[in-house]
Amino acid sequence: MTKTFYIKTMGCQMNEYDSDFLAQSMIHHGLFPVDEPEDADLVLINTCIVRAKPEQKALSFLGRMSAFKKRKPGLILGLVGCLAQKDGASLLKRFPQLDLVMGPRELSSIQEVLGRIDSDRQRVVATRLEPGPPRPIHTLGYFEGRIKAHLSIMEGCNNFCSYCIVPHVRGREVSRSPDEILDEARALISEGVRDITLLGQNVNSYFREEGGRWTFSSLLREIGKLEGLWRLRFTTSHPKDLSDELIRRFGDISNLCPHLHLPFQAGSNRILKGMKRGYTRERYLELTAKLKEVRPDISITSDVMVGFPGESRADFELTLDLIRQVEFDSLFSFKYSDRKGTLAEKMPEKIDEPEKTARLNTLQHLQRQITFKKNRELEGKQVEVLVEGQSKKNKMLTGRTPSNKIVNFTSNNGKFGILVKVLIKDGLLNSLRGDALKNG
Ligand code: SAH
Ligand code: SF4
Ligand code: F3S
Repeated sequence: MTKTFYIKTMGCQMNEYDSDFLAQSMIHHGLFPVDEPEDADLVLINTCIVRAKPEQKALSFLGRMSAFKKRKPGLILGLVGCLAQKDGASLLKRFPQLDLVMGPRELSSIQEVLGRIDSDRQRVVATRLEPGPPRPIHTLGYFEGRIKAHLSIMEGCNNFCSYCIVPHVRGREVSRSPDEILDEARALISEGVRDITLLGQNVNSYFREEGGRWTFSSLLREIGKLEGLWRLRFTTSHPKDLSDELIRRFGDISNLCPHLHLPFQAGSNRILKGMKRGYTRERYLELTAKLKEVRPDISITSDVMVGFPGESRADFELTLDLIRQVEFDSLFSFKYSDRKGTLAEKMPEKIDEPEKTARLNTLQHLQRQITFKKNRELEGKQVEVLVEGQSKKNKMLTGRTPSNKIVNFTSNNGKFGILVKVLIKDGLLNSLRGDALKNG
């Protein structure tokens, strides 16, 4: 009998959301979560393959668990997520200890599949890419004490950026029903969640005809009205689909946080074209200028990669120049990584590894200066912090600003889940430090 479970989550917020769904489903069926995989009867590994590195990490964790299972044959070992979708049945051959391989769109049938494995030790592969049935909501107190949660509004991607594997493993775009989304949001709020991030590979293209036309902008407006929701965020936005209407929402939905993650990927039009991104650097600069006009306090974060095939020094300089112009609050930066089956994989003029590393270092050095400067600018200012808990390192309270910056602060009130005004004393590289104002 399977009684305890452990889920290892790698990859993006969509995977975290999927793992939360899996955990709720297990608890609903009477299983208990444990903190170490070695203590579990069921181990699920939720994987990412967006670059070579996370794929290697997933395979190495799977290798470790397969070795462990030789000593504990009763263990049920499952691989789910994007690696499961990409490699399917071949994983069962490669890893004889594996019981289950399941893609993201199959997760709604996890219990039925586990039942089959439990009763007659079948090995199961489920990697259908068509949209599955809606997932039942059974939160049952799962989010109590969590304050923040993700909520998926659409899944899949139709963009096929030339470097990207995501559309190949997550399938085509499917928007969830607005009723389902609003119900889930209400359930989260009723358990004490105050900060919700709407998720999708490309949230701007949300569309649903159901009692009228629902666009992302209209959905945002409805969710923004929910009582008890203090902070609303979303990710990821694609610059080519960021409409003026959506930009205006930052000025008129009061609980929509002044933070936008808007990946730009490259600053050279030639490279953007090769990536099939569908916008120019000029358009990107125009969008960020408009956002700052509507919400001067907006924090803009982004994704960028270096060493895309054919990227010259001059192209790279254009990326640095765009970073200097926009002054991102923070930036996720990556070395281009070949993904099998994508268009970019077949492109000539690959950039060698040492050059990619050198470019990444230059870029990260520049961004560190900008982030540090922006955080220092907040010294002496008051910010509003949603308190999430206690920092492990120094016993200070910790939380985030509406712009998503981490704040560690002293306070004589140890309460979590409340909004507190904090006076910033130090702007550090990865966080802010300050003191709560009176009654905080
Ligand atoms: N849907 C999101 C991002 C998905 S992947 C979007 O469109 O922005 C997250 C980030 O990983 C991307 O923004 C990109 O910067 C990076 N990435 C994706 N494929 C990559 C590859 N082959 N090599 C390096 N980085 C990659
Ligand atoms: Fe990948 Fe592009 Fe889709 Fe983002 S928009 S998931 S980068 S194909
Ligand atoms: Fe990774 Fe899949 Fe997310 S490849 S980035 S876990 S959609």
